[in-house]
Amino acid sequence: MDFKRYLITAALPYANGPVHIGHLAGCYLPADIYVRYLRAQKRDVKFVCGSDEHGVPITIRAMKEGIAPQDVVDKYNKIIKDSFAEMGISFDIYSRTSNKIHHETSQAFFTKLYNDGVFEERESEQYYDEAKGIFLADRYIVGTCPVCGNENAYGDQCEKCGSTLSPEQLINPRSALSSAVPVKRKTKHWYFPLDKYEGWLKEWIVEGKKDQWKPNVYGQCKSWIDSGLQPRAMTRDSNWGVPVPLPDADGKVLYVWFDAPIGYISATKELTNQWADYWCKEDTKLVHFIGKDNIVFHCIIFPAMLKAHGNFVLPESVPANEFLNIEGEKVSTSRNWAVWVDEYVKDFPDQQDVLRYVLCANAPETKDNDFTWKDFQDRVNNELSAILGNFENRAFVLMHKLCKGRVPTLHADAMNDMDRALIEDIKSAKTKVETCLENYKFRDGLYEVIDLARKGNKYLQENAPWSLAKTPELQLENQQRIDICLHLCLQLNANLAILLNPFLPFTANKMCKKMKVVERMLDWENAGRIDLLKTNYPLLAPELLFRKIEDTEVAAQMEKLKNNLVKSAAQKMENTTEPVKAEAAPAEAPSKKAEITYDDFAKIDLRVGTIVKAEKVEKADKLLKLELDMGTEIRTVVSGIAMHFKPEDIVGKQVTVVANLAPRKMRGIESNGMILMAQNADGRLIFVSPLETADNGSEVK
Ligand code: MF3
Ligand code: ZN
Repeated sequence: MDFKRYLITAALPYANGPVHIGHLAGCYLPADIYVRYLRAQKRDVKFVCGSDEHGVPITIRAMKEGIAPQDVVDKYNKIIKDSFAEMGISFDIYSRTSNKIHHETSQAFFTKLYNDGVFEERESEQYYDEAKGIFLADRYIVGTCPVCGNENAYGDQCEKCGSTLSPEQLINPRSALSSAVPVKRKTKHWYFPLDKYEGWLKEWIVEGKKDQWKPNVYGQCKSWIDSGLQPRAMTRDSNWGVPVPLPDADGKVLYVWFDAPIGYISATKELTNQWADYWCKEDTKLVHFIGKDNIVFHCIIFPAMLKAHGNFVLPESVPANEFLNIEGEKVSTSRNWAVWVDEYVKDFPDQQDVLRYVLCANAPETKDNDFTWKDFQDRVNNELSAILGNFENRAFVLMHKLCKGRVPTLHADAMNDMDRALIEDIKSAKTKVETCLENYKFRDGLYEVIDLARKGNKYLQENAPWSLAKTPELQLENQQRIDICLHLCLQLNANLAILLNPFLPFTANKMCKKMKVVERMLDWENAGRIDLLKTNYPLLAPELLFRKIEDTEVAAQMEKLKNNLVKSAAQKMENTTEPVKAEAAPAEAPSKKAEITYDDFAKIDLRVGTIVKAEKVEKADKLLKLELDMGTEIRTVVSGIAMHFKPEDIVGKQVTVVANLAPRKMRGIESNGMILMAQNADGRLIFVSPLETADNGSEVK
């Protein structure tokens, strides 16, 4: 099929937190590379995205921060939008699902399906949190995964084994809001009959996309379809979301996974009056870029919705990536184990392209991958800078030294085999990169660009124009060789700029400036040409394209990651020491711990100590800094008990201390241990102290 236009979407991020580099690597960067490539080919393309501002992730965040959902989405929409802009993610529009146009569009979509009799209306019993007065769907409910036994699986998904779940499948379900044991209550919802689309989905995906879609995407779809499709509720009981456009639907909103993908349509509407061309004409190529956790929604549920509605094109491809881990561990927002994009751009000003480079060169295209700061440094210093940066620099330096700062003459009739081979390499690089990009193989595409620079380096090395210059008796002949060599190197450099442009646009622009060519040179059709720079044209002075990443920068980032972890642990501690409300402490403690052996217990070094000094920690209203007499030493321990005790009231008390806990920094103070406290059902804290005074430092066993 010859496509006339391209509609490229990137998953709408939840506006419940900033984006991290895993988001970039998984979805936004490959989408941007693809779009920049299409634009360079002058194809008709629209690139749409925006914030996903509804659903449980937003309301949970609002509850956590103690602010309104609207404030949450306003705050993070801005942070996310700015991060993308900084990183050069070149959306044609970055919209929001809270916009009026989106509410109207998604409601009209729902109404059309409703009027066509697509939905099944069902009354059912659903889990309800009586303490909070709220129905518990999706992430509001947690419990044990029936598949893998993970005790913290969500009502819609187990993040440990990846199973898609419904709240009914959870073993020992509990409310994520209050840990209360939920009761069942009747409620009415509108279900989309996915089961009725099973036959069509089999034909369209299982048979139709077998050799076209990436194996990780196809595999997930097939196993979903093979395991049988169920009707799925497309509405929720909530007051945050797009209201269900029916008369008898007070307190009901559209399911976030119903409204969010329609956000792609709303965003296109907002962008252009011609939106219907992109959504309804057969010769549009619709491509969804997403992360792997979004596959079923984009490959099965949304297409089935589009199909039920009619009039819309379906995605031609859904090139989903896997996840990017950080330093060997899964990204965790609650533990703050992530590299946040808004922080990266502050810590590394003007270094967007090196991150783009590393994230693409190491993209999790076929399996989960690992980002480490050491690898970041190595790839920037030893690949990008040492190969491409170095080639560009050598070409400029030598041209200034040996050719008076001007593009030398080619002397085409004096070219040798090596020169002709290099020209072939320049030409074939275009085709190679094209093939990679057309097939969403961005890592391989970038490799081909670097490989061309590598060939340039080799060619320079073999010709060694700097040594030719030193033999005066052969000067004329030598100068010809020098000219040919540097002419071709400079043309190769111009080609590098074109091929690099989709991947590293900031660098490609810099290269253009140095070659004093207009940006139009970057048009894709110019790749493969060796007449891009005019003979005798003076170019700017050499200047390095990339700076080295220093050891100190790597160390600082590692330190930051660790500090974030400690901070998030301290925050948790502050939270858990808050008076717990009676309703939140169910009698049959849901966190009853697993059995341990004596050896497990013996690992803990418990000691008696006396508090000799206690003071508040500045700017941390829950923390006290304690000094403990441990018999042979005075120890500092930071403890989250300031809401419970006045410092002067606890000096002199004997306490039990976990003495071999690894030190952690809290608010800049190193804490060396932890004191034991009992907590009553009403949240009150009581010191665990020996009944009679014991020697400080004596062992508790
Ligand atoms: N907000 C979802 C996520 O971050 C993605 C939504 S994509 C859309 O996982 F299709 F629904 F827009
Ligand atoms: Zn599981």
